[in-house]
Amino acid sequence: MPKELPFRIGSMLILNKTARVFSKPSKSKIYAFLRSFNFSPGTRFLHKVVLGIETSCDDTAAAVVDETGNVLGEAIHSQTEVHLKTGGIVPPVAQQLHRENIERIVQEALSASGISPGDLSAIATTIKPGLALSLGVGLSFSKQLVNQWKKPFIPIHHMEAHALTIRLTNQVEFPFLVLLISGGHCLLALVRGVSDFLLLGKSLDIAPGDMFDKVARRLSLTKHPECSSMSGGKAIEHLAKQGNRFHFDISPPMHRVKNCDFSFTGLQHVTEKIITKKEKEEGIEKGQVLSSAADLAAAVQHTAACHIAKRTHRAILFCQQRQWLSQSHAVLVVSGGVASNFYIRRALEIVTDATQCTLLCPPPRLCTDNGVMIAWNGIEKLRAGLSILYDVEGIRYEPKYRMDYSQTLRQDAVKQSGWRKEGP
Ligand code: KG4
Ligand code: ZN
Repeated sequence: MPKELPFRIGSMLILNKTARVFSKPSKSKIYAFLRSFNFSPGTRFLHKVVLGIETSCDDTAAAVVDETGNVLGEAIHSQTEVHLKTGGIVPPVAQQLHRENIERIVQEALSASGISPGDLSAIATTIKPGLALSLGVGLSFSKQLVNQWKKPFIPIHHMEAHALTIRLTNQVEFPFLVLLISGGHCLLALVRGVSDFLLLGKSLDIAPGDMFDKVARRLSLTKHPECSSMSGGKAIEHLAKQGNRFHFDISPPMHRVKNCDFSFTGLQHVTEKIITKKEKEEGIEKGQVLSSAADLAAAVQHTAACHIAKRTHRAILFCQQRQWLSQSHAVLVVSGGVASNFYIRRALEIVTDATQCTLLCPPPRLCTDNGVMIAWNGIEKLRAGLSILYDVEGIRYEPKYRMDYSQTLRQDAVKQSGWRKEGP
C-alpha cells in the first residue's frame, strides 16, 4: 500500500474512524459502507475515483485509484513469458494477448475496488507513446466503456505517468528532475507541472532496458536455471550479483560528449563481440550459456550504471546552475522498469549525495508498467483540470512521443569534476 501522506490525513481520518467500528474490514467494504450514506441528494460522498487502463507495450494493466492516492483495486497480466520464448515482443502477438485479457483485467481491478462504474469520476488510458497495435486495444476498449458508462475520458502520456507516480507514494512538489529508464525509453526531464516537462536529454538510439534484453538474449539467459522466467534486465541484475565486473573492461559510451543524451547501442555491440570471442575460447555453440555469463552481466550492468549516473549528474548540475531546482530540497525521481535495478539506484545515490539532492524511486512494482500509474495520472489531471474529454470519437493513439526539448543543453557543455572510470 502507498505510504500515507500528510495531505491525505484529513480525508483518511474518516476512513480510519469508520474502520475502527468494524473488525478490520477490507477497504472495499469501507467504501461500500460509505456509499450507502447519501448526505446531500445528488452529491456523492466519495473522493474522485479514476479507472486507469494501460496497454502500451506488453502488460495489460488496470487499477482504480482515488484522489488521496489509495489504490482501491488493481490487476495486471504480464506477457513477459510469452515474449521471452519468441525472443522479443512480436507486436501482433502482444495485440492478441491484450485483446484476450483486457476485459478480465479491468473487471478484476473494478471488482477488487468495490467501486461500481457509476461511481467512477473518469476513465484514464495510455494513448502514447508505445506499440501502435497494443495502444489500439486499450484505447478502443476504453472508448466502449466511456460511451457505455457515460464517463469523461482522460488520455495519458505513458512517460508522464511513470514520472508522476512518485507523487502517489511520496510528497513531492514541482519542479523536480526525473530520469525515466525503461525498455522503450530513456530520458531526463525537468518536471515543472502535471503536464509541463522540459526534456534535457534522451537516448540517441535504444533504451537501457532494450540493451539489457538484447544482451540477456544473446547470453541465452532463459536457459539459465535461475533466470528462465525473468525479463532481460532482471536476469542481468540477478546474475551480476554472482559475477566479477573487473574480468571485463567495457568503456562507458559518449564520455567526450558533454550533454545529457544517452547511447546504449555501442555497449550492446561491444558486449556481443565479447560474447562471440568467449564462445570461441570456451569452445561452446551460440545458444549455450557461457561460464563467464555472470562476470559479463556484472560488467555490462556496471558500465550502463556509470553512463546513466554520469549523464544524470550533468543534468543535476545544469539545473542547479540555473536554479531550476529547489535550493534547499532538490529532488531526483527515477522510474521506469530499469529503475527497479538496485545497482543502478546505488550509482545514482552516489550522484545525489554528492549534489545534495534527494533520490526518490517508486517501489519496484510501480517502476515497471502498471495500471496504478495511469489511474494516478488521471487523478492528477482531474485535479489540475487538464485533458478531461467528454467526446472520444476523435481521439487517436500516438506511437511516438514528443516532449519540449531544450536546445540550451546542446550549446552549454556542463563541466563535471570527480568522474573516474570506476563507479559504485
Ligand atoms: O517500464 P517497463 O515495464 O516497460 C517499458 O515501458 O519499457 O520496463 C521494462 C524494461 C525491460 O527492458 C526490462 O528488461 C527492464 O525494464 N527491467 C530491468 C529490471 N527489471 C526490469 N532492467 C534492469 N534491472 C532490473 N531489475
Ligand atoms: Zn513503461
